[in-house]
Amino acid sequence: MCGIVAFIGSREASPLLLDGLRKLEYRGYDSAGLATVTIGEKDQDDFVTCKRAKGKLVNLSELIEKEGAPGHLGIGHTRWATHGKPEEHNAHPHRDNSGEVAVVQNGIIENHTSLRKKLEGKGVQFLSQTDTEVIPHLISHELDHFLANGSSPSRSLLLQAVQKVLGLLEGAYAIAVIWSKTPDALVVAKRQASLVIGLGEGEFLCASDKPALTGFTRTILPMEDDEIALLTPLGIELYDIQGKRKDRSPVVLSGLDQEIDKQHFRHFMLKEIHEQPETVELWLSKHLPIHAPIDSPIVLPYDASFYESIEQIQILACGTSRHAGMVGAYLLEQFAGIRTSVFFASEFRYAPPPLSPHTLTIGVTQSGETADTLAALSMEHQRRSVLDNNDFASFQLGITNSSESSLALQVPNILDIGAGIEVGVAATKTFLGQLLAFYGLAISFAARRKSRSQEEINALCEELRSIPKQLKDLVKEHNQLAESLAHRFADTEDVIFLGRGINYPIALEGALKLKEISYIHAEGYPAGEMKHGPIALLDQRVPVISIATEGIVFEKVLSNAQEAKARDASLIGICPQTVETQIFDSLLPIPKVSEWISPLLTVIPMQLLSYYIAAQRGLDVDQPRNLAKSVTVE
Ligand code: F6R
Repeated sequence: MCGIVAFIGSREASPLLLDGLRKLEYRGYDSAGLATVTIGEKDQDDFVTCKRAKGKLVNLSELIEKEGAPGHLGIGHTRWATHGKPEEHNAHPHRDNSGEVAVVQNGIIENHTSLRKKLEGKGVQFLSQTDTEVIPHLISHELDHFLANGSSPSRSLLLQAVQKVLGLLEGAYAIAVIWSKTPDALVVAKRQASLVIGLGEGEFLCASDKPALTGFTRTILPMEDDEIALLTPLGIELYDIQGKRKDRSPVVLSGLDQEIDKQHFRHFMLKEIHEQPETVELWLSKHLPIHAPIDSPIVLPYDASFYESIEQIQILACGTSRHAGMVGAYLLEQFAGIRTSVFFASEFRYAPPPLSPHTLTIGVTQSGETADTLAALSMEHQRRSVLDNNDFASFQLGITNSSESSLALQVPNILDIGAGIEVGVAATKTFLGQLLAFYGLAISFAARRKSRSQEEINALCEELRSIPKQLKDLVKEHNQLAESLAHRFADTEDVIFLGRGINYPIALEGALKLKEISYIHAEGYPAGEMKHGPIALLDQRVPVISIATEGIVFEKVLSNAQEAKARDASLIGICPQTVETQIFDSLLPIPKVSEWISPLLTVIPMQLLSYYIAAQRGLDVDQPRNLAKSVTVE
């Protein structure tokens, strides 16, 4: 979590840093800060100007407007609190006691307690509760040591000091460091947290994530683990952890021109919900072309031996991505006939199932940065290396919306869902993109292994092709329906979501969307489970939202809804308009489609209803409290 930026060049740093932070605010927004090296006037030494503010970035912007932060070199940070409350004194940048060294960090320094104790023993005064604050104090100690031994302040001295300190840190981090005595040098480094260097003309803007570079450059150098870079207006010097010089060429990104803009929408979330028909269109054009290869209608970069050798699949993910994984597991098992399990990545790490060969592990993470998912995949890769007699024993596949993420560096086989930048913290279009990736995999497995007839495969493909048009109509219709229905939730405290089969994960997703942006307590259940406990919660104050699509469990879900109605619950149905569905007090109708394809439609009313309930409560839909878009801590 947290986002860092750093700039060096001939322009004023603070406007660029603030702009970068604005684009990273989705990573955390409980406080923000920036520091610049300000050139001293006349006989005055150069010094670090540091400004920090609790709360959203706008507070920092106002502060800078009032008080200024001059300088052509600077670092900035937007925070999601891990160590220490979201207060100004815990906001980054953190400085050493002389105020000459300033540092921003994203990650967690696991051994900060012991480092802190040692530093306190040497007389260092800590001003925050953060793990980060040890870093500027350690760097300052190294610099003092060099200076005491006769060295003069220089860029290489700063680089050496940071190099030494990195050797003392345990954990994951991306850092940027400035020193008032080197107004022409910026040092950045990373381990297991993302950091990209954007190359401009005689200037550099570094950031935790590419979107922060939009409008600045398309030429980037994504840093690799244990790399450290010295940036000056003249160029980049890249080193490995041992201090050996490295040489790597930057890459030119396509698609970074897309300015992060809400257009006419009130919130990014609403815009992103409306972008979903396009998400599907793009995916179809890439993966389900009209003229497809003979052996499978889906185009994916895997050969026949891949599909034939796999006996079972395990899916590791968190939150919404896990819900996509659950729909995926349903498709892979029920449509393609392959045993598939889904795990919370955070649980899998400490309680993985016994090893069995021919297992494909799929990590699902829209950001590609979720620490638990990355760590679970890495642990599984190591665990499986003992089975190396089998080509696919340790085969891993990553489903993500970020092909330059840490996941992409870690897992060589990436299915990029290509949904475009998602700014709203609540995942919407990336969820749909993840579902599509699983449709692609399930159809490919079924086609190659012949576990479904050609007619069944063609029918599912045809339905997929019809989804963009259906989604366009659905988003339009439900935008209004959900907005008017949302008024009824003004005083609601609890909501139950019910679904079965392939739509059970959609019920879970509906509950998660509602609770994360509206702060209303919500639970999703497989509809048949209601009578085994949750039914005790029901009365006229608890709305029950039921997903009932035609298929093998249609009647069952309707019976479960009737049971809720008999307990006075107000019933909302997400289902086709039929005689049977007249039992619902309110209907959010969806077209009649096969059960297989239905999650791509049933999720839309869920998203819109949650959105309008939160928006009508006047909540910050795009940046809900306590959350962040990339969860880069365990
Ligand atoms: C919910 C949401 C979170 C994420 C979860 C995993 O709207 O966005 O539950 O799904 O934090 O994130 P990724 O997909 O980046 O691994």
